Amino acid sequence: MTVLDLFAGAGGAALGLHAAGFEHVACVERDASAAATLRAAGFPAIEADVRDLDYAALAGTIDVLWASPPCQAWSSANQHEGPKGEDDIARNGWPWTLRIVGIVRPRWAIFENVKNARAYVERAVLPELRKLYAHVSLWVLNAADHGAPQSRTRIFVIAGPRPVRPPLGTVRRTMRDAIGIAYDRPSPCVMTNEGKGRPTDPAWWRKLNNASDALAIATDGARRKLTLGECATLQTFPEGYPFAGRPEERYRQVGNAVPPSLAAAVARAVLAAEAGLDTIREGLSAVRASAERVERVLAAAVGFVRQRPPRGVGLEDIDGFVGRNVGQLRAMVRALIHLKGL
Ligand SMILES: C[S@@+](CC[C@H](N)C(=O)[O-])C[C@H]1O[C@@H](n2cnc3c(N)ncnc32)[C@H](O)[C@@H]1O
Repeated sequence: MTVLDLFAGAGGAALGLHAAGFEHVACVERDASAAATLRAAGFPAIEADVRDLDYAALAGTIDVLWASPPCQAWSSANQHEGPKGEDDIARNGWPWTLRIVGIVRPRWAIFENVKNARAYVERAVLPELRKLYAHVSLWVLNAADHGAPQSRTRIFVIAGPRPVRPPLGTVRRTMRDAIGIAYDRPSPCVMTNEGKGRPTDPAWWRKLNNASDALAIATDGARRKLTLGECATLQTFPEGYPFAGRPEERYRQVGNAVPPSLAAAVARAVLAAEAGLDTIREGLSAVRASAERVERVLAAAVGFVRQRPPRGVGLEDIDGFVGRNVGQLRAMVRALIHLKGL
């Protein structure tokens, strides 16, 4: 499955898709340090503004277009309800992304975003996708249910030719399991500002906005920051992932990322739909139901034979008779069910 990854950041989603077996054709990202990270990790990075590229040559060649359109207007850090003015509207990446989907016509379009964007997406994005795709779903998934030791709830829009079931959850991991900090729950969300100093007011920490607030609680207010490596682990990046740039740029890349484990769960759900696994599952349960019906009719037939033994078969030999002929009886019942279209 080929992927065009827009707003690719440091490659969190790209790593998840890669782990699920997808192959990237291009990862478009305009931030120089994030693009350097993508290159160092071996992804085909195009350092450019998504709006400046010509996508016509890709038309009909892409299996999955994955996009995390910029969402400042809705992010909880901004405490906004949606775009407020011209600037916000100009920064809204959804219209450009839909335009690119219209040009590229990928087999699947998958979008990730903050949950505050849900109302806008339901109003302005889903109706446009329904004009292009037979099946469009919106899921709300928490990374903590998909392999990350971090609570991070995001919306996903999946548009494609088949219905897709949301991924099943896995057992939750805690901050203690992952990075040895005495906090026995998944960490709060890893944010882009984890590397900055923490406020001194303990009441503020209790709001648990950032992963580092849990660290502050676990250490009784000590002001050590979470290291970049700790943040990356909470986001399920592999150890030693080559984040490039100045420290604050690297923290920003980690905080902006889709946890690779979450992206992989979404990618595998799409693969299952693509492979028709749901159809196979439905077929198997139909076969099982039909086998159960054969056995029920067979039991009725055996009961009938027991009540009216065939000529020449003594009552004492009836069980032996049934045992010797059960294979033939079953075949007859099956043929009957088949003939009658039952
Ligand atoms: C939420 S982050 C994406 C995270 C990424 N999907 C990941 O999994 O790591 C959004 C990214 O979009 C990039 N971006 C914003 N506007 C852009 C534009 N017009 N063209 C290209 N990249 C853009 C930002 O630099 C940022 O890295």
